[in-house]
Amino acid sequence: TQESLEEARRVLRANDRGGFTIPTAGLYPFQWLWDAGFTALGWMRFDEPRAWAELETLFLGQWENGMLPHIVFHRPEETYFPGPERWGVTRTPPTSAITQPPVVATFVRSMLEQAQDQALAEAKARSLYPRILAYHRWFKRERDPENTGLVTVLHPWETGADNSPAWDEALARVEVDPALPPYTRRDTAHVDPSQRPRQAEYDRFLTLLEVYKRAGFDQLRLLRECPFRVASLLIDCVLHRANRDLLWLSERLGFGHEAEIAGWLKASQRGIEGLWDEEAGLYFNRDLVTGEPIRVGVSASFLPLYAGTASPERARRLLDTLEGWAQRVRYLVPSTDPHSPRFEPQRYWRGPVWAVVNYLIALGLAEYGYPEAALRIRRDTLELVQKSGFSEYFHPLTGAGLGGSSFSWTAAIYLVWSQ
Ligand code: DGY
Repeated sequence: TQESLEEARRVLRANDRGGFTIPTAGLYPFQWLWDAGFTALGWMRFDEPRAWAELETLFLGQWENGMLPHIVFHRPEETYFPGPERWGVTRTPPTSAITQPPVVATFVRSMLEQAQDQALAEAKARSLYPRILAYHRWFKRERDPENTGLVTVLHPWETGADNSPAWDEALARVEVDPALPPYTRRDTAHVDPSQRPRQAEYDRFLTLLEVYKRAGFDQLRLLRECPFRVASLLIDCVLHRANRDLLWLSERLGFGHEAEIAGWLKASQRGIEGLWDEEAGLYFNRDLVTGEPIRVGVSASFLPLYAGTASPERARRLLDTLEGWAQRVRYLVPSTDPHSPRFEPQRYWRGPVWAVVNYLIALGLAEYGYPEAALRIRRDTLELVQKSGFSEYFHPLTGAGLGGSSFSWTAAIYLVWSQ
């Protein structure tokens, strides 16, 4: 409705801190990588210069080696932990030391394609392109040096799906540092703890930070030494599509990197399709310490549709699997297979519906020729917002709003999908 659209714009304006948009006040008071990408798509619907500014500000946090960190701490805030001191990264602006699903190249392409102001869009895309290329080269050089076609992920936070049941075993293997400096969680002061990760997970999340600091953030060393190493569909599928769109940008803007990027795509096509499970009818993440598939269905299991790597046959099987899930929940797409004993419908990435993942899955379904399924997901998402507002995530059975409220990326998806 017109009212909700106005409300969505109000959410972005209220979360605007001048060049960057916080996901929500209190709980997440800085700029996050993939949030910034989705939020830029939302800004694009009513303020194009502000949309481009979101991405330019994000790249102020980029490291010299090309890494784009998952948090940029543009200015001090006391309401979040772990902040810059705990990360121990001495840079200006301070940042975290890990990355997040690399949505930027794809969204730059779609912003360029939809821009009213083509001159501005082309100038911005041209100036962002070399920075995105450096970021993707970093992935290849430092996270897939053996060209397996799958990126090594070093922290559940990198996957975006922090406490997904997919990471349970891999994370349990991380021994909590006996010398872990004491800390106070801030997240549970903002959100009911039953909707957030558990304490045992936080101790391990924080232990991993100590591992990185001891290794001086040396990525190649961490590929050997980090006790948590997984291949994540969220990262690999988003990166694969981002590389397709980077290749498109290279061609369109005349940068001439097509052959290099095509080489990456060939490897990741093979890598992602190697995660297919014929019996389960979906894709599984992989534990790179044991080399074994992680046999729990999660919303990211459908993302090879978004990547575009799946064959038409596999796409059809994915749709069947999704229809099976739909029998168990009122709203699609739950973040964990609702048949799984690990499904927890209100705990963060263990069951709730996330608008941004819905957006990626629906795009993929539409592109594979399943417009009705795509429409169902879009309708569910809009209905959740109508019912419960711009929540961070939603209960897949009741539709209740969960986590933070007045959330930027939920507002952004609403803006993108309702106009
Ligand atoms: C958090 O703190 O919950 C974030 O997801 C990590 O970036």
